Amino acid sequence: MAFELTQEQEMIRLMARDFARKELEPYAGKWAEEEKFPEAAIKKMGELGLLGMMVPAEYDGAGAGAVSYCLALQEISYACASTGVTMSVTNLSSDPIYKYGNEEQKRRYLMPLAGGKMIGAFAVTEPDAGSDPGSMSSRAEDMGDYYRVNGSKVFITNAGYAGVTILIARTGAEKSNRALSAFIVTPDLPGFKVGRREDKMGLRASNTVELLFDDCIVPKENLIGKEGLGFKIAMVALDSGRIGIASQSLGIARACLHEAVEYAKTRKQFGRNIGSFQAIQWMIADTAAEIEAAHWLTLSAADKKDRGEPFTREASIAKLFASEMANRAAYRALQIHGGYGYMKEYKVERLYRDARVTAIYEGTSEVQRLVIAREVMAD
Ligand code: CAA
Repeated sequence: MAFELTQEQEMIRLMARDFARKELEPYAGKWAEEEKFPEAAIKKMGELGLLGMMVPAEYDGAGAGAVSYCLALQEISYACASTGVTMSVTNLSSDPIYKYGNEEQKRRYLMPLAGGKMIGAFAVTEPDAGSDPGSMSSRAEDMGDYYRVNGSKVFITNAGYAGVTILIARTGAEKSNRALSAFIVTPDLPGFKVGRREDKMGLRASNTVELLFDDCIVPKENLIGKEGLGFKIAMVALDSGRIGIASQSLGIARACLHEAVEYAKTRKQFGRNIGSFQAIQWMIADTAAEIEAAHWLTLSAADKKDRGEPFTREASIAKLFASEMANRAAYRALQIHGGYGYMKEYKVERLYRDARVTAIYEGTSEVQRLVIAREVMAD
């Protein structure tokens, strides 16, 4: 792995930073407070190519690769972690169609998704199937020329606004991973309904909803790949998704460090700036060191993906470390702010809440440890 970014990667990082600092950062607090999904800003991100970064240009993606994607997502999440997850899940939902879809599906659904004309969602989780998606009960019944889908999904990011949702549902009789299949669903399908919007602790400007399928008619041609491939398709997409969440975590952690340093330089106690005390310096040093480690873990996973090498283990290591690191960074940044950090008036209060879910979604820390241990022990 080369430790220097290419000129193109640097340019993409700067472009994303410039956009994020101007168009997201000044408004992120207000959007979160009002639970406003920033549609206009996301549309601009689509125009900049940030929503289909890993899809090649022939399918209207930016063809920028995973390293550039991680750099850009860090910048977006630094400015607005809610927009970070919108970007991450849209990029994630291109993956199944790009890797397993047929030409017609790519033209109809991947091109507008990767070209930033719509956002995407990824519907796996159910009320009784979170870490164990193999136990899901949503069912797609083969009715000859269409599938009849019944069931519900919860905690689905973007789905209230998504033009395309990747749905994983059971097509076989047995309760196993091999009986799941992946489908493309669109909001116009009869029997498809967006349910309750979740009232979340953090990422309050992102859209998280329940999806209901009530005798939903999904055309046969919307099956991705073939029946039984759904679990594998979801796992492959989640490998990429996890480097996205590692990058989102990094963006949040960098914002925490920035807020902590600025506050430590100006807040006076005992007649001095608190930044002159070792207790504060050590917290800043620990966060800076951990950000550096998480950054390289994430880029090394992304680099493997760009090279076409297996990266399941590296993606889980990056996601585990970066998400837990972001939570430590947020804890320390809030601690440095003392009582002020607990008040909504200060940005660290939001960052602290935004960081929490990174260690939960797209596979909890416990699931990441399970994946890592399996990979290490199989080596
Ligand atoms: N790549 C390719 N194939 C994979 C794979 C991967 N990364 N991981 C597993 N598979 C394959 C296995 O090879 C196996 O194939 P065979 O049946 O042919 O042998 C099959 O899938 C089953 O694998 P496992 O036996 O490992 O499956 P498991 O039931 O033990 O589960 C798990 C493993 C890692 C716990 C998995 O269930 C998992 O990742 N759970 C967490 C789910 C998750 O991340 N949910 C997040 C929802 S999406 C979200 O949060 C998005 C959002 O909105 C922000």
